Amino acid sequence: MNVLLIGSGGREHALAWKIAASPILTKLYAAPGNPGIAREAECVALPIDDHAAVAVFCEEKAIDLVVVGPEAPLVAGLADRLEANGISVFGCSSKAAQLEGSKGFTKDLCARYGIPTAAYRRFDEAEAAKAYIRAEGAPIVVKADGLAAGKGVTVATTLDEALEAVDACFDGAFGGAGAEVVVEEFLAGEEASFFCLCDGKTALPFGTAQDHKRVGDGDTGPNTGGMGAYSPAPVMTEALIERTMKEIVEPTLRGMAEMGAPFSGALFAGLMITADGPKLIEYNVRFGDPECQVLMMRLKDDILVLMKAATEGQLGHMSVRWRDEAALTVVVAAEGYPGTPKKGSAIRGLESAASNGVEIFHAGTAVAAGNIVANGGRVLNVTALGRNVTDAKARAYAAVDKIDWPEGFCRRDIGWQAVAREAGTS
Ligand code: AMP
Ligand code: GLY
Repeated sequence: MNVLLIGSGGREHALAWKIAASPILTKLYAAPGNPGIAREAECVALPIDDHAAVAVFCEEKAIDLVVVGPEAPLVAGLADRLEANGISVFGCSSKAAQLEGSKGFTKDLCARYGIPTAAYRRFDEAEAAKAYIRAEGAPIVVKADGLAAGKGVTVATTLDEALEAVDACFDGAFGGAGAEVVVEEFLAGEEASFFCLCDGKTALPFGTAQDHKRVGDGDTGPNTGGMGAYSPAPVMTEALIERTMKEIVEPTLRGMAEMGAPFSGALFAGLMITADGPKLIEYNVRFGDPECQVLMMRLKDDILVLMKAATEGQLGHMSVRWRDEAALTVVVAAEGYPGTPKKGSAIRGLESAASNGVEIFHAGTAVAAGNIVANGGRVLNVTALGRNVTDAKARAYAAVDKIDWPEGFCRRDIGWQAVAREAGTS
């Protein structure tokens, strides 16, 4: 198969690494890719916002499958455009991408199909939102409706914080994403990420993970896109996975099909495991980043065979096998992240840091004067397999410590919940 992978982050490097290992792959292209992806694929400077140009490229190169990593091209309708030209896409339609693109859309779907989620109200002006918040009290959660790169959510512990978040949304802190605001009930519990591959009618469970959204050790400081992750998530027992499928994922697939927007591709359910069971926090219509990196390390099966089955409506005939090991990834970020990261500093020692069972995925790198340099906020994903999370963590940090990049930083406590559980202290 000839495959075109869309994206340029660590998630896409992990996908490229796994796709490149498939015996059914003929040629892998990536647009735009990054210096790590370039080891696995031919990187092409395609303007991915220009859907017609992507379609022409696919025809010229006889592409059999397009794999879309990030959500933005899906929301913008890239899959619709390519499929209209007869090109298979792993990734959903623009209409189905509302599951991620609009929090209000997902909340309304939950209400209609009885899917457990936090109680909520939608608002398009500040005063009504504030009145509701005053009536409900804190803690309470304020969210910009649209895509805000993971930064549009305020979990407010005080009333003032919640009211300020409403003003920030309507004052344009998140651009168009904040034109509508969702205010919802605060859910207490442990978070977990749950993934499925979907083909429009069938959802195939595709692993669990936990990530760390705050920038600082001990889950402190501002939210980020994710500072590290591990898989599997010990909190997601077989019984909880079964409940999540029955109560959350299956009604979602049914609902999407009924409204003429069948969901295909990777479905990422952000869950809160509460005293009453799993509740949906949010959906993403793509793999998590950096959750994808740990999933790809643990996946035994051929990702390309599974993605092809997803585009052909054949997931009902498939199963997924995982390695027995756990995987853990540490995000190494550039100074300044999640604010304005400093770009351009040289990163050395990557070759000697990687080893058997340790992969260093590139998330935000570039090549300058023959050196790998920082070119984004989250720059590297140092990912290791281990007997359990504790072992994977030790291997990942041993590799991190071999990297020579003084301008980079990482959290030192990725996996702490699972490590505590494994030590029997939690
Ligand atoms: P989201 O972008 O919707 O995933 O929210 C970002 C983070 O905010 C989540 O990963 C949770 O940690 C937290 N969060 C979102 N909604 C809630 C909620 N209703 N109750 C508690 N925490 C929440
Ligand atoms: N790591 C969370 C995300 O990909 O949205």
